[in-house]
Amino acid sequence: MVALIKIIQGDITKLAVDAIVNAANESLLGGGGVDGAIHRAAGPQLLVECRTLGGCSTGQAKITQGYQLPARYVIHTVGPVWRGGHYHESQLLADCYIHSLGLALAHQVKTIAFPAISCGAYGYPIIAAAQIAVQTIKTWTKTHHGIDIIYLVALGQPINEAYQLALSSIK
Ligand code: AR6
Repeated sequence: MVALIKIIQGDITKLAVDAIVNAANESLLGGGGVDGAIHRAAGPQLLVECRTLGGCSTGQAKITQGYQLPARYVIHTVGPVWRGGHYHESQLLADCYIHSLGLALAHQVKTIAFPAISCGAYGYPIIAAAQIAVQTIKTWTKTHHGIDIIYLVALGQPINEAYQLALSSIK
């Protein structure tokens, strides 16, 4: 069965899914935005485990337990900082989705939720980022089976609309 892609608006830390994805930085030692929210909701044990991981390169992903989150796992990925579009940003953003999904599949994750990676502090234009998210996920799910539902979580209305547009325009 091909995974369903669903857009939801709200706080990713509240979702009772198998895994939530964190838009982290290369240190994996916490930060603001969704990263800060995830660390606050998971509790201090998350940072303890993150300290053992040795950071993470941009476009790659690493997995931890979810601790006090409703989600069983957190998949930490590092999106690109938007620098105008000529520094492989689109490929690096696609890599975040591909590597996160690969880790999820390897851990028997059936339901996974993504925030809008790079669309906050890292400044990626949201229409383009939503297109990459949807295109990459759709392509990946055609050749990888085992994940049932992939949620695209929009904290605000602009990202929600960017996802709706992408989902309705990409086959
Ligand atoms: N639930 C869902 N989405 C959220 C939540 C939440 N609780 N909180 C924020 N967002 P950002 P980035 C959305 O800045 O651009 C951190 O400091 C937010 O509205 O969290 O990849 C890291 O440590 C935006 O649409 O991540 C890095 O240093 C999206 O999540 C850096 O920011 C991503 O915004 C990473 O920047």
